[in-house]
Amino acid sequence: MSKTIVLTGAGGVLCSTLAEALAKEGHNIAVLDLRKEAAEKVAATINKNGGNAIGVEANVLEKESLIASKTVVNEAFGKCDILINGAGGNHPLGTTSNPFFEMEDLNNATEGFKTFFDLDPKGIEFTFNLNFLGTLIPTQVFAEDMVGREGCSVLNISSMNAFTPLTKIPAYSGAKAAVSNFTQWLAVHFSKVGIRVNALAPGFFLTDQNRSLLTNDDGSLTQRGQQIIDQTPMSRYGEPEDLVGTTLWLCGEGSKFVTGVVVPIDGGFAAYSGV
Ligand SMILES: NC(=O)c1ccc[n+]([C@@H]2O[C@H](COP(=O)([O-])OP(=O)(O)OC[C@H]3O[C@@H](n4cnc5c(N)ncnc54)[C@H](O)[C@@H]3O)[C@@H](O)[C@H]2O)c1
Repeated sequence: MSKTIVLTGAGGVLCSTLAEALAKEGHNIAVLDLRKEAAEKVAATINKNGGNAIGVEANVLEKESLIASKTVVNEAFGKCDILINGAGGNHPLGTTSNPFFEMEDLNNATEGFKTFFDLDPKGIEFTFNLNFLGTLIPTQVFAEDMVGREGCSVLNISSMNAFTPLTKIPAYSGAKAAVSNFTQWLAVHFSKVGIRVNALAPGFFLTDQNRSLLTNDDGSLTQRGQQIIDQTPMSRYGEPEDLVGTTLWLCGEGSKFVTGVVVPIDGGFAAYSGV
């Protein structure tokens, strides 16, 4: 059955792929993004390929903006059946330069060198707001459409680092842990009114956000990039298409008794101790 699916951050790499895959299943797709042009471009591609999509500008941190986008979605497609909370990301001010703190770091005056003691609350606030509030507020707005109706669900995007934090990115790891925790909380909270709530925990996907951390200018892997591959039993980065199967499952009838799960899609990263 055709559903109305709203995806936030769908002008981006991973969720544009999900939007295109869901459109191919015959669903009506609302591509939401802070970047209006990116949202419209993804919608245009879907429509060109025979799908049914609209691109809508929306800021996941502003309720008024989301309410306005919901009006547009409701006029185009009716009530929202499924919400995919894809907007998220990290901030350099919440990231340390090195994985470990060493004694000599206290005297390192190199421009831009950041230890734990240099982390800027503004970067941490940005990251927590975008990932956590940016999941909670759109759910407040769009899940209202779902209450008491059948086949409705919310799919959040957490991350591998929610299970065990990655070095250097305490803010992003903590914020995604909050997304996983909220996924369970909301699954319980909404369990009586027919709304399932689950999450994907993608492992490592080479995207514009992390490309400079993981690859050198010549395309070879950085030390961190190689470490990730070494720690991934399947020995590769994920491709956006790797998220599609689990998404279709969690948005469809096949998972109708599944709620509150966070599914790792990581080539075995989380299962591997490295030994
Ligand atoms: N790329 C990875 O390896 C990876 C791994 C695990 C989890 N994730 C998560 O997957 C999701 C998608 O990541 P991606 O790699 O496609 O990133 P991306 O940067 O390509 O896409 C994110 C999109 O969110 C939009 N956005 C940013 N702030 C917004 C706001 N306030 N309101 C609305 N839209 C906003 C951006 O414009 C962008 O289009 C994110 O939640 C990310 O944290 C990514």
